Amino acid sequence: MMQNAPVNALSKAVRVGLIAEIEAALNNANVKVIVISSQLGLFSGGADISEFSSGNLQPNLPEVLDLIENANKPVVAVLNGPAFGGGLELALACHYRISFADNKVGLPEVNLGILPGAGGTQRLPRLTGVAQALDMIVSGKPVKAAALNGVFDLIVDDPAKLMSESQAFVAQLINDGCEIKRVKDIEIDTETAPSELFSQYRQGIAKQARGFFSPERCIQAVEAAVTLPLKDGLQKEAELFMECMRSPQARAQQHFFFAEKAAGHVSDYDKSTPVRDIKSVGIIGAGTMGGGIAMNFANAGIPVVMLELKAEALEKGLGVIRRNYENSAKKGKLSQQDLEDRMALLHGTTEYSGLADVDLVIEAVFEKMDVKKQVFTQLDAICKKGAILASNTSTLDINEIADCTSRPEDVIGLHFFSPANVMKLLEVVKGEKTSADVIKTSMQLAKKIRKVAVLVGVCFGFVGNRMIEPYGREANRMMLEGADPEHVDRVIYDFGLPMGPFTMGDMAGLDIGYFVRQSRKEHIAHDPSYAVVADRLVKDGRAGLKVGKGVYLYEAGNRKPIPDPTVAQIAKEEAEKLGVKPRKHSDEEILERCIFTLINEGAHILEEGIAAKSSDIDVIYVYGYGFPVFRGGPMQYADEVGLDKVYAAMCKYRDELGEYGKAWFEPAPLLKRLAEQGKRFADFAK
Ligand code: 3HC
Ligand code: NAI
Repeated sequence: MMQNAPVNALSKAVRVGLIAEIEAALNNANVKVIVISSQLGLFSGGADISEFSSGNLQPNLPEVLDLIENANKPVVAVLNGPAFGGGLELALACHYRISFADNKVGLPEVNLGILPGAGGTQRLPRLTGVAQALDMIVSGKPVKAAALNGVFDLIVDDPAKLMSESQAFVAQLINDGCEIKRVKDIEIDTETAPSELFSQYRQGIAKQARGFFSPERCIQAVEAAVTLPLKDGLQKEAELFMECMRSPQARAQQHFFFAEKAAGHVSDYDKSTPVRDIKSVGIIGAGTMGGGIAMNFANAGIPVVMLELKAEALEKGLGVIRRNYENSAKKGKLSQQDLEDRMALLHGTTEYSGLADVDLVIEAVFEKMDVKKQVFTQLDAICKKGAILASNTSTLDINEIADCTSRPEDVIGLHFFSPANVMKLLEVVKGEKTSADVIKTSMQLAKKIRKVAVLVGVCFGFVGNRMIEPYGREANRMMLEGADPEHVDRVIYDFGLPMGPFTMGDMAGLDIGYFVRQSRKEHIAHDPSYAVVADRLVKDGRAGLKVGKGVYLYEAGNRKPIPDPTVAQIAKEEAEKLGVKPRKHSDEEILERCIFTLINEGAHILEEGIAAKSSDIDVIYVYGYGFPVFRGGPMQYADEVGLDKVYAAMCKYRDELGEYGKAWFEPAPLLKRLAEQGKRFADFAK
């Protein structure tokens, strides 16, 4: 029985223990059959990921599995709960496997930038067939045990009967003479795995696997299973495993695995902090964000009251939600019954009194402080004691909003990302007076609605939008200096983001950035070149995709950006007016100016304590902005590049770009300090 809380990771002690127990059982004449199972609620979460960086892997898992496979007594794995990665590989090396039908199993190593390295790529295809194994290994997605053909010798419908039925299975095995069935003896019928299977699979995943290193190695490992005997296949798997493990992507993705978990480790509360019960939610504003936010709660079975001042706006908002659900139903992602059930959880009101009894209100009205204040004053008057009052503002000061109520301790920012029903990120913004139980309730609620929450402090734009500002600023400045927008976009796309800054700007609407700049004139007044081309485009009626022209041109009904020479001409005119000299931009310069300035802002944010740790920023960027997970997030990327290099590049542009460089490229003190000390952002704790 394995017992290594919390997830039965197959750490060194477990491997040593398994070897000792198996050898003892093999040497004990009274033992006829060896059974491996777990005392925890899950079978095993796989190899201990935290050991990967230590290098202390002896005895390694393949050695343990080799001992099991070659044992001369039958070894039976009884999967009493989920088995992932090395956990499933352990079961595959056994001679028999038993599970219950709904149990979840999978090989998620690809999500860690590696591949199954303990025989999974060789044994799974032998048992379940190449096509299913290939998909499981390359996608990393878990499946139900009952859906995994050929792997289990016994599948029990009722989990409560797993142990009794397993005992009966073992008794029968002994009765039948203890036959040993080794996976290594199975030969794959090569006709089931023609080369087209692999080429088609490669084509099918090309888009989502763009930039990733390990999916291709996963495919190569499964290809080896088809052509090689198990021993040689395992050798090939080991080589590919090590190739992945040595790659920066493995470090980045493993960093991200722990970063995501660590985002939930918050020092503002502890186990004794109470949690408020959230049984119903009010949402103010049924626009783009309000509608998406409401869907999250309805999806989780929590009733919602939506408030708009005008009945038409309310009807419109609810109509958009219904259409969204209908689209999901058309794609087969939702049954008609689910659709109706979810809509039945959504109620509308045009009166504040309709919110008197809700446990949480999320405000998603126009981004104007006076409107927000009006809303919160009314909420303060109407909402019951103990209700949490939240704002979805993307930039405004939560403290100022809180202070217009008599209960600032109940006020918090819940910053969803658009589209709010899809994006996984939730920035939870704590105000100066927000109470610990409100923070804890918000963080836990996020899980319930399937979001990844990151706790941040108050500043303009919080973490995500504050850091995106220099990124966009540099893109715009380089356009002014003569860079082609498509060149800038291509470099960023190749780096791994879903799209470059200009495509993104056109999609969001150039007017949005314009209005933000208008409201922050005093912060940019010292730089007359700040986004001048974008400002001019907006003034010329080129607000982006929605009007068919922005930085790019668009054909009706098509989102493909078409480069427009007029924009280069506008940039040239504006540059001449301002005396900005044209500059040749290498790919490296584009990348550094966009990404390093974003990182530099992250360093300020860390030192100010707006983010508690650098990995929180990484989580925000991967889940909120599409930063490639194979780079681990911007701060991990900086750590990988080396902070000395990031610092040196900031200094270089500061010195090369004249007044502009002096205004925007001063390295953050924290970046300078860590670079000089040879440290990483990950080392920094406030
Ligand atoms: N190694 C080390 N730590 C692990 C771990 C692992 N494989 N899996 C989970 N943990 C840690 C988490 O970091 C978390 O730590 P924390 O409490 O400090 O935050 C703790 O265990 C609990 O994890 P969860 O909160 O995720 O627990 P859940 O019960 O929600 O989920 C799980 C359990 C489904 C097993 C989930 O943790 C999971 O998916 N783990 C990773 C599975 C995985 O990727 N396995 C492959 C490992 S690589 C491998 O096996 C290589 C092999 O091929 C050689
Ligand atoms: P929107 O304009 O689509 O929706 C706002 C809705 O609020 C409208 O339906 C309007 O009728 C309603 N409204 C305005 N004043 C009201 C009041 N006093 N009482 C009740 N309803 C009122 O705006 P959107 O995009 O949904 O933004 C809402 C908030 O979410 C803003 O604070 C914005 O900054 C924030 N946000 C927006 C994101 C986006 O990408 N659109 C992303 C994250 C946050």
